[in-house]
Amino acid sequence: MFKYTNLYQWGWRLIVATTTLVAAVDIPVRLVLDYQSLGRVTGFDWFITLIFAADMLLNPALATRRGRPARDVLEAQANPGPWFAIDLAAAVPFTAFLALPPLQLLRLLKLARVAEMMRRWQRAELHNPNVIRLVVFLFWLALGLHWLACGWLSLRGVSPDVTEGTNYLLALYWCVTTLATVGYGDITPTTNVEVMYALLTISLGVGVFGYVIGSVASLLANIDPARVRHQEMVERVKAFMRYRQVPSALRQRILDYYEYLWEKRLGYDESLAVSGLPPSLRTEVCLFLNREIIQKVPLFRAASEEFVRAIALEMRPVIYMPGDYIIRAGDIGEEMYFISQGTVEVLSADERKVYAVLKSGEFFGEMALLFNQLREASVRALDYCDLYLLTRASLERTLVRHPEIAARITAIAQQRREENVQRQEKRH
Ligand code: CMP
Repeated sequence: MFKYTNLYQWGWRLIVATTTLVAAVDIPVRLVLDYQSLGRVTGFDWFITLIFAADMLLNPALATRRGRPARDVLEAQANPGPWFAIDLAAAVPFTAFLALPPLQLLRLLKLARVAEMMRRWQRAELHNPNVIRLVVFLFWLALGLHWLACGWLSLRGVSPDVTEGTNYLLALYWCVTTLATVGYGDITPTTNVEVMYALLTISLGVGVFGYVIGSVASLLANIDPARVRHQEMVERVKAFMRYRQVPSALRQRILDYYEYLWEKRLGYDESLAVSGLPPSLRTEVCLFLNREIIQKVPLFRAASEEFVRAIALEMRPVIYMPGDYIIRAGDIGEEMYFISQGTVEVLSADERKVYAVLKSGEFFGEMALLFNQLREASVRALDYCDLYLLTRASLERTLVRHPEIAARITAIAQQRREENVQRQEKRH
């Protein structure tokens, strides 16, 4: 099995696509302007044959990446016949055996491969899919115009009064004005076939025109889909706050939260984004998304790979704003938190004493879970806090299999409890 890096694959596919494109432009022109040349097998013909034949042989190997069948391989495996027939028909230099120049048009079948390549590019490209759709559309439009112009030229015949270049340009001019349904009327169809051709071109033009208007409008509307989605959500929340007459200070805090959510995560709820993935992919994505917190928390850094995987799946990101109470003393505790960014202060139940200020990489809320008690202290966000939350059930599930981590968390909780007792005693 051949092993290709992506760069080689890309390079090769680019060569095939360029050759196909040159053939798709050149063959129809020669069919109209220089019919005789198509009857001979030229150097360019042999070159196309060579490239297309090599591509036909390489295609199955090229589509396999690092031993893992890519989507195109699966498609090709499900449907090998038609693709092979297309590759073969495009590769054979028919005019070497048959004096029938239009057979050269079979080369254009290779455009099916180019279309497939573009589809794959559209699927894989994460940035600006709308722009790519427009580029692909413009590409086909330009090629279609060229073919229409060649068709018109073959119906009209080549005028000997002007050069071949001018003949082609005039045909292209007719096509563009007719397709755009402008039709100045300076070049008009005369024979029945020409009128039918013009009718077809005008009908095509109406469709193309509609498509261009539709896609440009959707392109402009969706140039930044994440922002559009986020703005819609904020507008909905604003309408709701107006309807329920939410006090303006609270309103401002809610809007601040959305602003922060946009800045930090482009407004995405990460848990929702990964919920549709299969378990193995979800673990990988969660590990990637939570890598920052996993690296920050000293407790995790020393832990085994298996623990990190388990905990990455269970943690859920939450955001708190400055002044928010994350935990209130005396409440029932059902979750603990790890700080990814921001600072929180731990306050005594009467809020007269600051027990501690915790920063990025530290955790809190573990005492209620470990000792099965009510919340020992209140915890308040001092600035914008990016936290990761772990529920009681998740914590118990993971700690059962990792007693060494459980022991370390318990030791820290124990130490905190003793510190608090000492402080209380000092006060009395
Ligand atoms: P819990 O009692 O569940 O809720 C309040 C949390 O504050 C508590 O768990 C600890 O995680 C944290 N906490 C309490 N006392 C201290 C302290 N002295 N230093 C640091 N954190 C504390």
